[in-house]
Amino acid sequence: MSKVFVSVGMSLDGFLAGPNGGPTNPLGDGGVDIHQWAFKTKSFLEHLRMEGGESQTRDDEIVHHTFDRAGAYIMGRRMFDEGEYNWPEDAPFRAPVFVLTNKPRSPWERKGGTTFYFSDDNIEAALGKSQEAAGIKDVRISGGASVIQQYLNAGLVDELEVQVAPLFLGKGMRLFDHIDATKVKLEIVEAIDSPIITHLKYKTIRV
Ligand SMILES: NC(=O)c1ccc[n+]([C@@H]2O[C@H](COP(=O)([O-])OP(=O)(O)OC[C@H]3O[C@@H](n4cnc5c(N)ncnc54)[C@H](OP(=O)(O)O)[C@@H]3O)[C@@H](O)[C@H]2O)c1
Repeated sequence: MSKVFVSVGMSLDGFLAGPNGGPTNPLGDGGVDIHQWAFKTKSFLEHLRMEGGESQTRDDEIVHHTFDRAGAYIMGRRMFDEGEYNWPEDAPFRAPVFVLTNKPRSPWERKGGTTFYFSDDNIEAALGKSQEAAGIKDVRISGGASVIQQYLNAGLVDELEVQVAPLFLGKGMRLFDHIDATKVKLEIVEAIDSPIITHLKYKTIRV
C-alpha cells in the first residue's frame, strides 16, 4: 500500500538548515554540508544531471530507493523558492510536486517529468491530490520544517527517515521545533551507519 514518508537531512544539533537561508543561500549558512554525503552518491548526482559519484554503496542504494519509491512530492513554498533558483531546468523530481502556499499560481511544468502545482489547499486535501497522482508509489513530504511538522502533528506520516550529519550548525532552522509530542509517537525501524552519515528510520504509531 502507498505510504507517506519524510526523508530529510539534519545536523547533529537538530537543524535542517542554517541561518540566513533563501534562494541565493540555499539551506542557509553551512546547511548544504548536511547533504555532503548525498553529493558523493551517483544516484543523487544523476538526479541533478551531474556526472560522477559512487555507486553500489549503501548510501547510494538509499538515495536510489528514496527517489524510486516517490510518485509525488509535497513541499512548502520556502523550500520551493530556494529550488526554483537553484535546481536545474530538468528539476530533480520527475514527478508531480505539490507546493503549499497561500499565494497559488499556475502550474509550472519542467523538462523531464516534473510539474509543480501551487495550492492553498489544507494539508489533507494536498495529500489527497498527491496520493492520487502517486498511484501505487509513495508520497514524499520533502520539507521544509514547517510542512514536515504539520504533517507529523496531523498523524499523516507513515515513515520518518532522518539522515543525521556529523556536524553542528549552532543556529538555523530546527527540524522538530513545533512537534506536538502528545500526537507523534515513533518506533525504530532501522539505523544504518556509513562512514559519513547516519540513517535513522522510524515508523509512526497512531495515537
Ligand atoms: N535538510 C533538508 O533535508 C531539507 C529539506 C527540505 C527543506 N530544507 C530547508 O528548509 C527550509 C524551508 O523550511 P521552512 O519551514 O522555512 O519553510 P517551508 O516549509 O519550505 O515553507 C513554508 C511556506 O509554505 C507555505 N505553507 C506551509 N504550510 C502551508 C499550509 N498549510 N497552507 C498553505 N501554505 C502553507 C507558506 O507559504 P506562503 O508564505 O507562500 O503562504 C509558508 O510560508 C529551507 O531553508 C530549505 O533549504 C532542508
